[in-house]
Amino acid sequence: MEVIEVEGGHPIEGEVTVEGAKNSALKLMAATIMAPGVTTLTNVPNIADVHVMGKVLKKLGATIDVCDQHTLCIDTSGVDRWETPYELVAQMRASTAVLGPLLSRFGKAVVAMPGGCKIGARKIDMHILGLEALGVKFKIDHGNIHASAPNGITGRVVTLDFASVGATENLMMASVFAKGVTTIDNAAREPEIVDLANMLCEMGADIKGAGSPIIEVRGVKKLHPVTHRVVGDRIEAGTFLAIGGLMDRPITVKGFEPQHLGLVLRKYEEMGLTVERGNRCCTIYRKGPIHPIDIQTLPYPGFPTDMQAQTMCLLSMSDGTCIITENIFENRFMFASELNRMGSDIKIEGHHAIVHGVKKLSGAQVKSPDLRGGAALVMAGLVAEGLTTVSAIHHIDRGYEHFVEKLQSLGAHIVRTNIEDTEEELAS
Ligand code: EPZ
Repeated sequence: MEVIEVEGGHPIEGEVTVEGAKNSALKLMAATIMAPGVTTLTNVPNIADVHVMGKVLKKLGATIDVCDQHTLCIDTSGVDRWETPYELVAQMRASTAVLGPLLSRFGKAVVAMPGGCKIGARKIDMHILGLEALGVKFKIDHGNIHASAPNGITGRVVTLDFASVGATENLMMASVFAKGVTTIDNAAREPEIVDLANMLCEMGADIKGAGSPIIEVRGVKKLHPVTHRVVGDRIEAGTFLAIGGLMDRPITVKGFEPQHLGLVLRKYEEMGLTVERGNRCCTIYRKGPIHPIDIQTLPYPGFPTDMQAQTMCLLSMSDGTCIITENIFENRFMFASELNRMGSDIKIEGHHAIVHGVKKLSGAQVKSPDLRGGAALVMAGLVAEGLTTVSAIHHIDRGYEHFVEKLQSLGAHIVRTNIEDTEEELAS
């Protein structure tokens, strides 16, 4: 079983450059389906989820050249299928991002119902309701979603119950060739949505308002391939900046827009961290104690759920008590249970976590519950007394490129290694 072993207490400081955003790259890849020809994506992170999305596109008939480690040349002229295989959707929920592009290109799509995952049910009812409003018909059978637009897609006003990132993206992409104007009201505002809208407009789409709660898409006849650079990954950046808050030595993170972490950085300053914002970079360190502050996750520009575990790690060592409220996913506190094995004092009450700060953490064997929780466990291991062994690190590999190497470059005593499978692993 492959694990990450980290010995705590070593000074961590220096500079790291983050990759392109996982949560943009996956959708940009899906969007290439709508522009037959070769689209070149640069600053693409070399991570497991991108490899899975590449498999999905190849299954549909695309060809992909990895021009260099972070540049993909995706030729979708040969895409002639519209059914995504269950095993890939089960592996990565984001595969459902091909639903909108396939409907735009073929007027039909078959996508496996995404299963839930550890952080929640991950339904797509809002995607379906929104697309139905645009004239798409759905049939669900044998675990597959059969979508078709027999009379084409017609622009309408669609109001989302919740500012869902995935639903906003699928509706935006499904509307690109629609008859008339589609208005997405209560749209998600994440920077990754803006990145997707920017690329679609570069391809010839007519989209206004991305980044605001109201997005307007005017149907056009066709899109053409482009070259597009993926926006920097604000969550990878936030993860390393949170690590900068662990100690009194500066960590500088490059390759992202600090304003994409606006509220996170303001909360970190309230927690007593020193934050120096620069041009596509930011430096964080801490001289005094971590102050306890209450956090509640909300859609952008609210506090991002993807930064909840990393921030909980910091607050677990604050000099007081605070409450973290998770409003986006119904089960995203598994990290807290693992962190308690390292000596933190966190009680879960529904979607609140009551965090009593402790003086120190101690190394332990822990298991990554999900992508961000896994990264936060490694983060805890950097300051815990003794050795921390983190298992189920495939979660981390889904969204962090060279995570161990980047931490080694900052001075961490950390390695990836293989250990005997535990009884539990062998049983699972
Ligand atoms: C995207 O997931 C991200 N994933 C998530 O990042 C991120 O946490 C999330 O947005 C919120 O910012 C990708 O972009 C690949 P949602 P998504 O639709 O699109 C419920 C990470 O760690 N919901 O905004 O699935 C849903 O179950 C990952 O990088 C419905 O009920 O997020 C969830 O509880 C984790 N019905 C909430 O809304 C729907 O039709 C937010 O979902 C759609 C969503």
